[in-house]
Order: sequence, then structure tokens, then C-alpha cells
Amino acid sequence: MTGFSPDFQSDLWSLIRMRRDVRRFKPDAIDPEIVDRCLRSFSLAPSVGLSEPWRIVMVNSAEGRAAARENFLEANADALAGYSGDDAKIYSGLKLSGMDLSPVQMSVWCDAGTTKGKGLGAGTMPEMKAYSCVSAVMQFWLMLKAHGVGMGWVSILDPDRLARDLGVPDDWKLIGYFCIGYPEEEHETPELERAGWEQRQALPDMLVR
Ligand SMILES: Cc1cc2nc3c(=O)[nH]c(=O)nc-3n(C[C@H](O)[C@H](O)[C@H](O)COP(=O)(O)O)c2cc1C
Repeated sequence: MTGFSPDFQSDLWSLIRMRRDVRRFKPDAIDPEIVDRCLRSFSLAPSVGLSEPWRIVMVNSAEGRAAARENFLEANADALAGYSGDDAKIYSGLKLSGMDLSPVQMSVWCDAGTTKGKGLGAGTMPEMKAYSCVSAVMQFWLMLKAHGVGMGWVSILDPDRLARDLGVPDDWKLIGYFCIGYPEEEHETPELERAGWEQRQALPDMLVR
């Protein structure tokens, strides 16, 4: 096979175009089979040296979720305090996590100390292990979207505190906390763009040659 059909190519483009970082969710539960199917995409992700350093910690308990949300609220208040003027005004109105409502929540960590892959490719640039985790998250994100499910990435967190609260090894590096559920709305433009915070750039602006 030399490629996929034009219909598939067009659908794939729509999927990429319509994927959003979602913070506003319907309360509806997701069929666990759908979540499992999408999670399986992690095992197909590229990773440096085939190290597969991602560690997925589902956050199902009320205590775990409350601790993560408290962590976010404090980190977000600190972040707001770093802005002034119009930026502070816009920032204070942004919704930067869906932790209040998303029916599925999980954290992804990088176990950079894994011996899997025997260090291949990560000797000169150890950060490649974290990049591997990010690439796995990305295809998981698209898989969810293909099933009509949205995801939001939360990084406004104290990672050491989250590790303690969730009981994960302290040498794992936080890749992100993820809120997953059916989106309240569909949009072609990012929420930050709609809120007047920042704008996407087009291809010609990012090509350096
Ligand atoms: C590494 C990473 C961390 C992010 N952290 C947050 C976050 O803490 N809160 C949030 O609301 N969005 C977060 N986002 C989402 C971005 O704001 C979003 O991807 C960007 O505005 C573009 O919007 P789109 O994903 O809908 O295209 C994060 C995205 C990435 C890739």
C-alpha cells in the first residue's frame, strides 16, 4: 500500500483541523471500551530507542481528583498574579482546565530512568524520552477525537505535589494531566484565540528557510 484513499486523507485533515483542547465537557460518561481502544494507541507510538517511557496513571478516586484540582486552582492563581493590565483581565476569564466536570481524568508521566531501549538515542539528548511521551499523547488525542471525545491538557500544576498526592515515584516527570469527555461545543478555532489571548500562525510564518 502506498497511501490511504483521498477520502481518508480528507477525513484525517478534518480530524486534525477539528481537534481542540477541550475544557468544557458534558457530564455524560464515556463507554470504557472507547477509552480502552484509544489508550491502546500508546503502545503504537514512536519512542526513542523503543524505550516506551510513558506511564499512565488514571485518576478515578474523588480524593485524587480533588487534590489535583486544588493543585491546579493554586497554580492558576499564582499564574494570574504574574500578569497585569489587559493580560490579567483576559487571563482571569480563561477556563484552563476541565477538572470540574470531565468524567475521565488521567495523568501521564515520563519514566526517564527506564532501562527499556538501553539508552539508544537518548544519550546526547535525554529530553527525547519526554518527547516520546508527548508524541504518544498526541496520537491518543486524535484517537479520542475520532470517537467524538475531547481532551484537555492541564499543565498549570505543581508536578512534585501531584506526584506525592497520586503516589507516583518521585523520579517520574509529569507530562500532563488530562481531562477527557464529550465536548460541550465543537469549534474550529482554539479557545485561547476566541478569548483574544493569542492567535494561531499560518504555515508561511513558521517556515524558516
Ligand atoms: C504541553 C501543553 C500544555 C498545555 N497546558 C494547558 C493548560 O494547562 N490549560 C489549558 O487550558 N490548556 C493547555 N494546553 C492547551 C493549549 O492552550 C492549546 O493546545 C492551544 O491553545 C491551541 O488550542 P487547540 O489545542 O484547541 O488547537 C496545553 C497544550 C499543550 C500542548
